[in-house]
Amino acid sequence: MRPEFVFGVASAAAQIEGAADEDGRTPSTWDIFAALPGTIRDGSTPAVTTDAYHRFDEDLALMREARIDASRFSLSWSRLMPDGRGPVNRKAVAYYDRVIDGLLEAGIRPVVTLFHWDTPAPLEERGGWLRRDTAKRFADFASAAGQAFGDRVADWITLNEPTTVILDGYALGVHAPGRAKLFGAIRAVRHLLLAHGLAVDALRAVPVAGRIGITNVHTPVEPASPSPDDAAAADLFDFVHNRLFADPVLLGRDAELPYGAKGVERLGLRILSRLGRDRAVISRPLDFYGLNYYFPSRIAAGADPHGHTPDGDTEAMKDVPFRLEKYPEHPVTGFDWPIAPDSLGVLIDGLVARYGDRLPRIQITEGGASFPDEVGPDGTVDDAARVDYLARHVAVAAARPEVDAYFVWTFVDNWEWAAGFTQRFGMVHLDTETLARTPKSSYRWFRAVQDARARQDVGLESTVQPS
Ligand code: FCB
Repeated sequence: MRPEFVFGVASAAAQIEGAADEDGRTPSTWDIFAALPGTIRDGSTPAVTTDAYHRFDEDLALMREARIDASRFSLSWSRLMPDGRGPVNRKAVAYYDRVIDGLLEAGIRPVVTLFHWDTPAPLEERGGWLRRDTAKRFADFASAAGQAFGDRVADWITLNEPTTVILDGYALGVHAPGRAKLFGAIRAVRHLLLAHGLAVDALRAVPVAGRIGITNVHTPVEPASPSPDDAAAADLFDFVHNRLFADPVLLGRDAELPYGAKGVERLGLRILSRLGRDRAVISRPLDFYGLNYYFPSRIAAGADPHGHTPDGDTEAMKDVPFRLEKYPEHPVTGFDWPIAPDSLGVLIDGLVARYGDRLPRIQITEGGASFPDEVGPDGTVDDAARVDYLARHVAVAAARPEVDAYFVWTFVDNWEWAAGFTQRFGMVHLDTETLARTPKSSYRWFRAVQDARARQDVGLESTVQPS
C-alpha cells in the first residue's frame, strides 16, 4: 500500500447517531418510513442505533487506537437545519464541531457526506426529490455546512449513492420514502443531479478548503446468457444502475437509454428530461469520484417472480423487465451478496474505459461485508470471513494507480436501513441491548495493517493478504 494511500472507515448519520429527537433535530424520511409497519425487517427504528451522538468519545478512542487514516460520516440535514430550511441549529454545529475537532486531534481526516439518504420529512411531504425546489434547499444546506466546517473538512461528498435513492427509495419502495413509482422515479434523477451541482458551487463559493466529489455505487454487469434478450436486459440494468448519474456528472450529457430496451415502453419510461440549462452546473469538474463497491450483477430478461432485490423483496420488482441471478461460483455474505473481489478491478477498468480523462481520482468510499457475528464465550468476536473479504478487496484497490483510498463499511455495527439490526458490517461488534462495543478480529487486523505501514517495514502484500 502506498504510504499516502488512505485506509479509512465510513458511516452515515441515520445509521449511527440516534438521539433522533434531541437538541432540535426534526424527523427525516427514515424516521417516518421505519415507523410504518412491515418496512424494517426486525421492526427496529433509527431512534437510537449506535447512539454515536452520545458515545462519540468512546468510538473516537477506538479509532485512534486502530490508527484509522480517515473517517467518513454524514451530516444529518434534519439536525443541522431542522425541517430542511432556515437558520442552522447551533447545537448541531457544536456536535459536529466536536466530531471534526476530535478526529483532527487524533490525526484522522474528516470526510463529510452531505446527503446520505435522510431527507428532512417536511421536504419529502412537499414532493422530495420529485420536486426541483428540494435541490435548491440542498444547496442552502451545503452552503451552511461549508461555512460551519469548511475550514477543517478534508473531503466533501455531495450525495451518497443517488442510484440507490432512485431505485430503492422511489422506484421500488424498499427504502424511504417508500415510493414504488418504477421507471416514473426517473423524474427525481434530474433534481438529485442538480442538487449535486448546486452543492458543488455552494461549497466552492464559501470557499471550503477541502476537496469535493460525489459518491455512487457501481456494479459490473454481465448478462446471464449470450441470448439477445439477456444482453438487452443487462444493458438496461447497466443504464439505470451505472450510467444514469455518472454520464451527466462526468460527461455532461444524458445517459442514453439502450436502443429498443424491451418492456420499458410498457412501463411508460420517458427518456430523461434534457439536462438543458442545468448541464453545466451538473457536470462541474470534481476533485475525486467516490466509488462504492459491494458486488457484481448477473442479469436475465424477465421479471423475478419473488420480487427479489439485494436490499429486500418487493411486489414492485415483479413489474421490472429484468431480474438478478445468483453466482453459484462465489461465496456470499450475510446479505446473500456474492463475494467477488476481482470484479472491483473489472469495475475500475470499465470506468476508466468509459470516462477516460473525465474521470477524476477515485476513492473507494465504501466496501465491506455483513456476517452474523457473535461474541464468543471468551468475550472475543472472530470475524475471519470479514478479514478475508477486506484483505482481498483492499489489495485490488491499493494496486490501482487511479485509486487513492479505501473506506471500510463500517466501524461499529450499525442500523442497516430496511434490514434493521439483522446485518452486521462493523469491525467493532455492537450489543444492541447494552450498546457495548467489542472490537472484532477484523479491528485487530486493521490495526496490524496500519502498524506495519507506520513502521514501513512491509508492503501491501504481507500486510493485507489473508493468511
Ligand atoms: C451502501 C450504503 C451504506 C450501507 C452499505 C451496506 O449502499 O451507502 O449506507 O448501508 O450499503
